[in-house]
Amino acid sequence: MDRTFPKGFLWGTATASYQVEGAVTKDGRGPSIWDTYSHTPGRIKCGHNGDVACDQYNRYREDIALMKKLGLRAHRFSIAWPRIMPAGRGGVNEKGIDYYRRFIEGLLDAGIEPWVTLYHWDLPQALQDDFGGWKSSETSRCFADYCEVIASRFGDIIENFITINEFVCFTDWAYGVENGEYAPGEKLDNKGINQVRHNALLAHGMGVQAIRAAAPEARVGLADNAVVCVPVMETEEHIAAARRAYREKNAHFLTAVLEGRYPDFYLEEQGPDAPVFTEEEMRIIGSPVDFVGHNMYRAEHIMADPESSRGYTTVITPSSYPHMYAPWIEITPEITYWAPRFLSEIWGVKEIYITENGCACDDKVDEFGRINDTDRIFYLRNHLISARRATAEGIPLKGYFCWSLLDNFEWADGYTYRFGIVHVDYTTQKRTPKLSADYMSRVARENRIL
Ligand code: NOJ
Repeated sequence: MDRTFPKGFLWGTATASYQVEGAVTKDGRGPSIWDTYSHTPGRIKCGHNGDVACDQYNRYREDIALMKKLGLRAHRFSIAWPRIMPAGRGGVNEKGIDYYRRFIEGLLDAGIEPWVTLYHWDLPQALQDDFGGWKSSETSRCFADYCEVIASRFGDIIENFITINEFVCFTDWAYGVENGEYAPGEKLDNKGINQVRHNALLAHGMGVQAIRAAAPEARVGLADNAVVCVPVMETEEHIAAARRAYREKNAHFLTAVLEGRYPDFYLEEQGPDAPVFTEEEMRIIGSPVDFVGHNMYRAEHIMADPESSRGYTTVITPSSYPHMYAPWIEITPEITYWAPRFLSEIWGVKEIYITENGCACDDKVDEFGRINDTDRIFYLRNHLISARRATAEGIPLKGYFCWSLLDNFEWADGYTYRFGIVHVDYTTQKRTPKLSADYMSRVARENRIL
């Protein structure tokens, strides 16, 4: 097999503000729901929080130099809304703007394309207090205003804008789980959660429109972790079943965005719990995007099943199925082939990016201070092989962002899982590239699987 990627394939890393920045009270940043949540006893493993994280706010120059050394061409990061608008709306905090301008200019000077995410879950606490956060479409409107600020202030130095990161994590997992897993950690009923999802979709659509209005040259997309459906085997019937499942399982997020409507079966299924919406809102949600970013870590295995009313079954993962160090990351490298393939087959998406892929490992520092994370290389290599299969078949997969540049604050798991290709010693803040950083660096430079 030819192991080379198409010319111009984009190689990068990804991070998110609350997970790496720290400096949570510096230069006028307002509190976010994740500050509140991580300081609520019992919410985060080991009582960890993002107060310091990787201290990137103070060390961004060092991190940019590191990326440059690794030879990566792109970096995806998120802007902390509460640094820009400490109260979520109204006044703009110029110090926050200055920070991101310095950061972005630093990336550009290093020859690294900035890919900016506008919402990676750190909602200003004030919007939670004033409107109940994503329970209200007021928050969607505030998001659009914030997008307008970002696009007008940074439209000259940023080309690629990602509205929202992973719908399910700040909707279902944040408002729909008993004892809440993610901030703000509420438990709504099914109808409530459907409306939260709808408000999140609306924020995306309004965000797309606001960015386009303020920065006409901008390219806009999203980074969703749609459920990736992998056929149990590659026969026509199972592939067709997985394709159908991919559209249906993502009905209330990615499908709604790409079709500008909720599929009929979804509305019927939800009955009186269905979200309340207008046709105009659906048009906004369906605003055309320039690319689809897809975060992916694991799959659901789908098999054709004539017994089932939907024609397919989601296979229950056997307890003996292999997984990486974090048990939820089952080993399903086929995802980087099937998700792009279905995006292109179902909706004709013309530009696809893997905006996150990676894994946590039980990294050990050896006597020479090295971290030889061969399991992470195994994970990455196998996902690249499937991605290469996609590009070889002409599927328009254009780039790959590895999660993550650095070990960082892994949400409810605190610092207990390390996803970085660069090790962070949280006591000294020393960065040490792991063997996987060397691997990704060489892959990026040679544009081929190694
Ligand atoms: C997806 C999220 O976007 C990111 O914030 C998280 O750290 C990784 N997955 C790993 O769980």
